[in-house]
Amino acid sequence: MILIVGGAGYIGSHINKTLAKSGYKTLVYDNLIYGHREAVKWGEFVLGDAGDIDQLRLVFSKYKIRAVMHFAAFAYVGESVTDPEKYYINNVSNAATLLKVMREYNVKNFIFSSTCATYGIPQTDILYEDHPQNPINPYGYTKLVIENMLKDYGNAYGLKYVALRYFNASGADPDCEIGERHDPETHLIPLVLDAAIGKNKNVKIFGTDYPTPDGTCIRDYIHVNDLADAHMLSLEHLLEGGESQIFNLGNGNGFSVREVIKSAEKVTGKKILAIEDKRRAGDPPKLVGSSDKIKKTLGWSPKYANIDDIIKTAWEWHKKLNASK
Ligand SMILES: NC(=O)c1ccc[n+]([C@@H]2O[C@H](COP(=O)([O-])OP(=O)(O)OC[C@H]3O[C@@H](n4cnc5c(N)ncnc54)[C@H](O)[C@@H]3O)[C@@H](O)[C@H]2O)c1
Repeated sequence: MILIVGGAGYIGSHINKTLAKSGYKTLVYDNLIYGHREAVKWGEFVLGDAGDIDQLRLVFSKYKIRAVMHFAAFAYVGESVTDPEKYYINNVSNAATLLKVMREYNVKNFIFSSTCATYGIPQTDILYEDHPQNPINPYGYTKLVIENMLKDYGNAYGLKYVALRYFNASGADPDCEIGERHDPETHLIPLVLDAAIGKNKNVKIFGTDYPTPDGTCIRDYIHVNDLADAHMLSLEHLLEGGESQIFNLGNGNGFSVREVIKSAEKVTGKKILAIEDKRRAGDPPKLVGSSDKIKKTLGWSPKYANIDDIIKTAWEWHKKLNASK
């Protein structure tokens, strides 16, 4: 059984589907604070908090867990600045509880959702895994703390892990069974699609004077199913006795905010009103990662390189979600 903590959320639900379709038995453990029960369409479900040691012990004693995938965290960067305690408790303290119970039950394999936010301000055009990690917000710090814990637990207790530093997760299940559904939503693509569908009047562009070709920020968008494939390869790597690893997960192509809006107009056939606003503090001009390491080590290759194809899957899901409201 593969335990997917936070598997009722956006990324975890897609990984759950991929694993289940590949024949793995899965158990989603989620407190549903941001997740959706109806997104857990495969495997078993237990309602519980990552910080609830008794509930975790019940799960680990009832099921034979071979590996844990940990998606449960808070991920609103701005909120992590105004309410850091909330982030250190959920992202660090609760993760430590989960790791403690894994130790108690001798479960050694762990896959962790880390983030490019652990790098802080890029010092190079393309980010490789050995780029210095100097997060500029508490959210990024909480993820870096866990990366360090994993290294220490690996050395001391024999924990085996893969930490995956995602860039911008995007898109949706091409069968449209699940998709992105954050509330509040802060990610660019769903916000652009909210403007296309008429839920919001416009989309804001924060900063148009960056040193980029069109003046807007450039980000690396990785399709959620490509993330799912990478999780499965990471799981197989660990189950076959592979060494602990840290990998970037991006598609290596950066797209600017204006390019994303243009692509969304093409895909949706709708005019999207973009309002130019001032820069936000702490937004680097460009965040693009190299995923060469996971390609070489695990043979991963992303299927979605083109932003139009990513947005097409997001748009199909967005229409379905909004039609059902
Ligand atoms: N979305 C991105 O672009 C992105 C980028 C980098 C890293 N990440 C990381 O990936 C992970 C998943 O992100 P997502 O976009 O799917 O977020 P999400 O909010 O959709 O999913 C997180 C899930 O965890 C659950 N959860 C939170 N705290 C919990 C707790 N204490 N106990 C049990 N369940 C809990 C929520 O209910 C939710 O279902 C997070 O750790 C996030 O930091 C996401």
